[in-house]
Amino acid sequence: MVAFKELVFSGVQPTGNLHLGNYLGAIKRFVEMQARPAQCLYCVVDLHAITLWQDPEALRGQIREVTAAFLAAGIDPRTSIVFNQSQVPQHAELAWIFNCVARLGWLNRMTQFKDKAGKDRENASVGLYDYPVLMAADILAYRATHVPVGEDQKQHLELTRDIAQKFNTDFGSSIAAHGHGEAFFPVTEPLIGGPAARVMSLRDGSKKMSKSDASDNSRINLTDDADLIAQKVRKAKTDPDALPSETEGLKGRPEADNLVGIFAALSETTREAVLAEYGGAQFSAFKGALVDLAVEKLAPINAEMKRLTADPGHIDAVLADGAARAEAIAAPTLDAVKDIVGFVRRGPRLAAV
Ligand code: TYM
Repeated sequence: MVAFKELVFSGVQPTGNLHLGNYLGAIKRFVEMQARPAQCLYCVVDLHAITLWQDPEALRGQIREVTAAFLAAGIDPRTSIVFNQSQVPQHAELAWIFNCVARLGWLNRMTQFKDKAGKDRENASVGLYDYPVLMAADILAYRATHVPVGEDQKQHLELTRDIAQKFNTDFGSSIAAHGHGEAFFPVTEPLIGGPAARVMSLRDGSKKMSKSDASDNSRINLTDDADLIAQKVRKAKTDPDALPSETEGLKGRPEADNLVGIFAALSETTREAVLAEYGGAQFSAFKGALVDLAVEKLAPINAEMKRLTADPGHIDAVLADGAARAEAIAAPTLDAVKDIVGFVRRGPRLAAV
């Protein structure tokens, strides 16, 4: 077994409407990962965003808004590397090489493509189909060992592991000949967990909270103010029963389960602990407590996002600095990959000409 240095990577798409699911399932956990003795890289994945059409001017704003959300939530751009994907060319370059490692059959099994392409599959972009291969390249350009994500990304991370393993096997002797031992890429560990790995819609407990849901009442956006948060929580669908005292009692009650999960994640505890306090309470009382908690936790992030987005020059400087530091890690990986695959590349002598 080759030991890889711990490195954390994750990404968020700048497709508008960052919501509570993105925050609790991903961004809040990115912040927590900074306590680990590992380099963390957090990427605004703009190349992924254009797999569905984006208005160019809006896209630029959305890239800055996701960056602002990262910083407002507590990601420190001096210790972590915060950048946007399109500024680091190695992502797209490695994706091409992985296109030649990944198998059609693997991509045909991706459920997110089926969901996003819908019935009109013939009209979906090739990029949408190839989305998970680019994701593998994001992760493996840094040889990341840990990737915190929400549960909906599980299948994509399994594909990343398959690509890493197939590359290591297909090029095994070349990897060894170039002095990298028996494996060049780590088999990345997905970090999926906590009470909010899958935050559901506030209007329908069987559907994931999502940016693309037509109803804005289905989600709490990170840009919502206190009044709007209160309104959406109060309107959230529930059932007529009181809250149970044990998690067993949440079975078959998806809306109750979701609100308890959100409460637990926001207060950094477990569903069990929430039910120990609120078991037997009516939803009206529980929702009141949830509004207070959500506003307490989200209002400062909202205010800081506003402050940061008012200064796009600062955000762009953070992204440029992050991109340079990201590229310093990814470029040597790509050089090594090119040697392993058998390409002829410019050496230091030619590069100096
Ligand atoms: P995106 O932008 O769709 O989602 C960003 C993160 O938010 C999580 N998430 C949720 N978590 C809990 N409940 C929800 N309802 C919910 N909705 C979204 C997602 O799981 C994700 O962690 N494909 C990635 C972006 C990406 C990436 C990567 C991630 C591109 N390259 C490399 C990790 C590593 C995505 O889903 O983005």
